Amino acid sequence: MSNKLTAAITAVGGYVPPYVLTNQELESMVDTTDEWIQARTGILERHILKEKGKGTSDMAVEAILPMLEKKGISPLELDAILCGTVTGDYIFPATANVIADKIGAKNAWGFDVSAACSGFLFSLETGARLIESGKYKKVLVVGADKMSSIINYEDRNTCIIFGDGAGCVLLEPNTEGYGLLDSQLHVDGSGREFLIQPAGGSVLPPSHETVEDKLHYVHQEGKTVFKFAVTNMANVSYEVMQRNGLTGDDVDWLVPHQANLRIIDATAERMGLDKNKVLINIHRYGNTTSGTLPLCLFDFEKQFKKGDNLIFSTFGGGFTWGAIYLKWAYDPN
Ligand code: UT7
Repeated sequence: MSNKLTAAITAVGGYVPPYVLTNQELESMVDTTDEWIQARTGILERHILKEKGKGTSDMAVEAILPMLEKKGISPLELDAILCGTVTGDYIFPATANVIADKIGAKNAWGFDVSAACSGFLFSLETGARLIESGKYKKVLVVGADKMSSIINYEDRNTCIIFGDGAGCVLLEPNTEGYGLLDSQLHVDGSGREFLIQPAGGSVLPPSHETVEDKLHYVHQEGKTVFKFAVTNMANVSYEVMQRNGLTGDDVDWLVPHQANLRIIDATAERMGLDKNKVLINIHRYGNTTSGTLPLCLFDFEKQFKKGDNLIFSTFGGGFTWGAIYLKWAYDPN
C-alpha cells in the first residue's frame, strides 16, 4: 500500500463505424493488391464513417456513453475531458467541448490534444497529471479520428493504411500503487514535412489552389516515417522498461500504436517480449491515429488482470513518440 496519488484507468470504451473497407475494395480504387497490403502493413480491413454530417465527436460519444453506463457513472460526475485527435469536428471549437455537450458533461472542462498518432498517449499523460494534482477525480481521456475525412482515396501510399475509430478511458485517483507509473514522451518538429496535412492551417489557409493541389489530404513519405518510427518506438519502450527495472518477463502486455505490423514486431523484439503479450488489432482497423491505443484496450480488456504491467508505445506525425508504464487496476468481470 503506497500513499502516492496515481491516476488509474478504471474503465475503457471503444467504437468503430459499421462500414468495412476491405483490401479487395481498395484494389478497385487504386493500383494495389490485398497481398501487398497484408505483407507490408498487416492490414486486412478498416472501418469508415460514411454517414454525412457525422464527425469525430460522434464516434467518441458512441465509445463513451456505454462505458459510463457500464461503470454506473453519470456524465455530470466528469471533471475534465481530453481528446487526442487530428480530425476534430472543427478547427475550433475543440472536439472535447462538442463531446461534453453531446454527452451532457455539464460540469467538465476540457481541450483537444494535437499530437497525431501520439494524441491518446499525450492526452493520457496530461490527464494523469490532472488526477495527481488532487483537484480532479474523474478525467475522461479520448482518442478519436475520422481519418477518412483527410485521406485521398486516389493515393495508394496513404489510403490503404488509415481507418476511422474512437476509444476512451476513465482516469480516477489511486493510492494502492496502480495506474500510470512512468512516462517518456518526445517531439521533434523537424520531422513535420514527412507526415503532414499541409493546408487548412494559418500557413496555407484554404483556397481554390490548396484544394486543386490536394493539400488538405494527408501527405506521408512512408519510408522515412517508417525508419524513424521503427527506431524510436522500440528505443523509448526499452528505455521505459529499463529505468523501471522491468525485463521482458515482467511486462504482461505491450499496447502498441497500430501503424504497421512490422514496426510493432520490431518494438516487441527490442523489448524481449513473447508474441502472445503483444496486443494487435491492426488487421481489423488499420491505423486509426489517436484511436489505436484505446481501441486495443477495449478489445483486450477482458484479458487484463489487476496488477498486470502494461507498456504503451507510440510514434506519429510531428514527429511525436513515447511510452508509458501503467499497472492495471482492476480484474475482468
Ligand atoms: O502512424 C503514424 C506513423 N506512420 C507510420 O508509422 C507509417 C510508416 N510507414 C509505413 O508503414 C510504410 O512505409 C508504408 C506501409 C507506408 C509503405 O511500405 P514500404 O515498405 O515502406 O513501401 P515503399 O513506400 O518503400 O514502397 C515500396 C514499393 C514502391 O514501388 P517501387 O518503387 O519499389 O517500384 C511503391 O511504389 O511499393 C510500392 N507501393 C505500393 N504497391 C502496392 C507503395 N504503396 C503501394 C500500395 N500497393 N498501396
